[in-house]
Amino acid sequence: MNILILGSGGREHALAWATMQNPKCDKLYVAPGNAGMADLATCVALDIMDGGAVVAFARENAIDFVIVGPEAPLAAGVADHLRAAGILAFGPSKEAAQLEASKSFTKAVCDAANAPTAAYGHFTDKAEAIAYVKAQGAPIVIKADGLAAGKGVVVAMELSEALAALEDMFGGAHGDAGAEVVVEEFMDGEEASFFVLCDGEDALPFGTAQDHKRVGVGDTGPNTGGMGAYSPAPVMDADVVAKTMDEIVLPTLHEMARRGTPFQGVLFVGLMIKDGQPRLVEYNVRFGDPECQVLMMRLGAQAFDHIHAAADGRLAEAQVHWADDHAMTVVMAANGYPGSYEKGSVIGGLETMDDDSGHMCFHAGTTAVGDDITATGGRVLSVAARGASLSEAREEAYKMVGQVDWPEGFFRSDIGWRAL
Ligand code: AMP
Ligand code: GLY
Repeated sequence: MNILILGSGGREHALAWATMQNPKCDKLYVAPGNAGMADLATCVALDIMDGGAVVAFARENAIDFVIVGPEAPLAAGVADHLRAAGILAFGPSKEAAQLEASKSFTKAVCDAANAPTAAYGHFTDKAEAIAYVKAQGAPIVIKADGLAAGKGVVVAMELSEALAALEDMFGGAHGDAGAEVVVEEFMDGEEASFFVLCDGEDALPFGTAQDHKRVGVGDTGPNTGGMGAYSPAPVMDADVVAKTMDEIVLPTLHEMARRGTPFQGVLFVGLMIKDGQPRLVEYNVRFGDPECQVLMMRLGAQAFDHIHAAADGRLAEAQVHWADDHAMTVVMAANGYPGSYEKGSVIGGLETMDDDSGHMCFHAGTTAVGDDITATGGRVLSVAARGASLSEAREEAYKMVGQVDWPEGFFRSDIGWRAL
């Protein structure tokens, strides 16, 4: 098969890495890709938000299958464009991508599906939102309705913070994404991520993980896209997984099908778990980054078979073969991230790093300049390792991090602290 992966982050590098290990893959393209992916695949400059351009490239290059990595092209309908052109694609339609692109849409689906989640109010009027927040009191959570690149959520421990967030969002801090606001009950508990492949009808649990969203050691400082992850998440035991499937995921998929917008792709289920009871925090309609890296480390080549089966409506026969293993990834980011950071510093030490089924340095924001690998993003590397235990995976991952010679970058030294 000729395969095209859309995206340029650590997530897409991990998808490319797993795909290349599968003998079904003849030729792999990534668009736009990054310096790390150039070792595995042909990187092509393509506007991945432009469905017409993606279809044209796929036709010219006899692409059999397209895997869409990030949410933005999904929300823009790129998977619809591909399918309308008769090209097999992994990822939901624009309509089904609303599960990530609109918080109020997701809340309405949860209501119809009777799925456990936080109580909420949905507002387009600032005065009404203020009155609701004052009546509910703090702690309370304020969310911009649309995609806000992970920056549209304020967990307000004080009423004043909540009111300031409303002023911000209705004042246009997130553009159109904030013209509508969802106000949610604050949920207490332990967070975990659960991934489920869906083919519109059947669903296949595809692993659990925990991310580290704050930039600093001990979960301090501003939110980021994720500074490290591990899989499996101990809090997601068999009972919590079963409850999540029965009470949240399957009723949601049912409701999506009932609406005539079945979900195909990977459903990223963000959960808050308390006393063994999962509640939905949010859905995303793509793999997490860096969660995908630890899932791919553990799944290897079979990941591609299942992703392909999801796109092809064949999940009923699919079965994941889990090893009794653990994986961890540590993100290395440019100094200053998630604020402003410099671009162009040279990253040393990459040539001598292990590169095998248990060790992989996934690239995110890197660009090759001559023989050098330079940092051109906020999150730059996602160093990943696998082990028989989480502590072994952690030891291996940090050993690799220690080999990277990059004074302009930093990482969290405590990935996995909650589980260890
Ligand atoms: P979201 O973008 O919806 O995932 O929100 C970002 C983060 O805010 C989540 O990962 C949680 O840590 C936190 N969060 C969101 N909603 C709630 C809630 N209702 N209660 C407590 N924390 C929340
Ligand atoms: N790591 C969180 C996300 O991908 O949304």
